[in-house]
Amino acid sequence: MEIIHRKNEVRTIIKEAKTRGKIIGFVPTMGYLHHGHISLIRKAIADGCFTIVSIFVNPLQFGPDEDFQRYPRDLVRDLSMLKKEFVDVVFVPSTDEMYTKSHLTEVRVPVISEKLEGKFRPGHFTGVCTVVAKLFNLTSPDKAYFGWKDAQQLIIIKKMVVDLDLHIEIVSVPTVRDSDGLAASSRNKYLSEQERKKALVLSRALQKIKEMVELENITDSEVLIATGKKIINSEDVELQYLEAVELENLEPVSVIKNNTGILGAIKVGKVRLIDNIIWE
Ligand code: PAJ
Repeated sequence: MEIIHRKNEVRTIIKEAKTRGKIIGFVPTMGYLHHGHISLIRKAIADGCFTIVSIFVNPLQFGPDEDFQRYPRDLVRDLSMLKKEFVDVVFVPSTDEMYTKSHLTEVRVPVISEKLEGKFRPGHFTGVCTVVAKLFNLTSPDKAYFGWKDAQQLIIIKKMVVDLDLHIEIVSVPTVRDSDGLAASSRNKYLSEQERKKALVLSRALQKIKEMVELENITDSEVLIATGKKIINSEDVELQYLEAVELENLEPVSVIKNNTGILGAIKVGKVRLIDNIIWE
């Protein structure tokens, strides 16, 4: 496994792998890896890709009052996890390596970036798209892997790829959960034991909705959302949104069917958590 820090090293290694006929699989992350990230990596390796993982906590996607400074970081642990997975290359750039002091350009996908998460994290997805576009240009992957855990991010990246004619297949990977149902996330580290118990209300509400749809054939969004909100509001957490939407354009839907999903966010103390359930 090669660990590299420089953009020109990425270009050289990828060029060399391509001349050997390799399919390049790229998994962008912000590190503090968990089994959600690992499932993306295993998918890339199972697809036979020459697999490159990036670890970069991207300042551009954090708001001024958000957790950029205290975002969990543990490179030694991350690298030892990646070594066990037989990843080919890990790209760990510094902020100065990624962005010149005079960086100006933004990649913005309006409308769908302003819904749901966008209302609570203005500018977030512009930061995500800008760094992902740069990482795509550096790694020139054939396939890039994203998790459904961050459903809105996945949908926005897919749109960016289509709109900018990027020749990259976006592969989506199902959400990986801990044994208690909580969606795996680097930010779960912030939760105290008591907060974690409270946080479970979001996955519990989504699981209840899933059962109503799949076992009882209830597809009326209003009924499903009302049930979900009731469950969430029974716990000492702040519900930020719970919405039924079309997956492609994130427009509200009144009936759950294929290509729709229910996306939600809560705040437990100071910790913001997102989760969703999708019908692909
Ligand atoms: P990060 O939160 O580290 O997530 C990296 C990738 O792992 C994303 O595609 C995310 O959806 C996926 N992922 C996280 N938790 C998951 C889970 N429980 N199950 C399945 N997949 C999961 O998302 C980012 O970083 C950044 O925004 C990034 C795309 C790297 C740009 O900076």
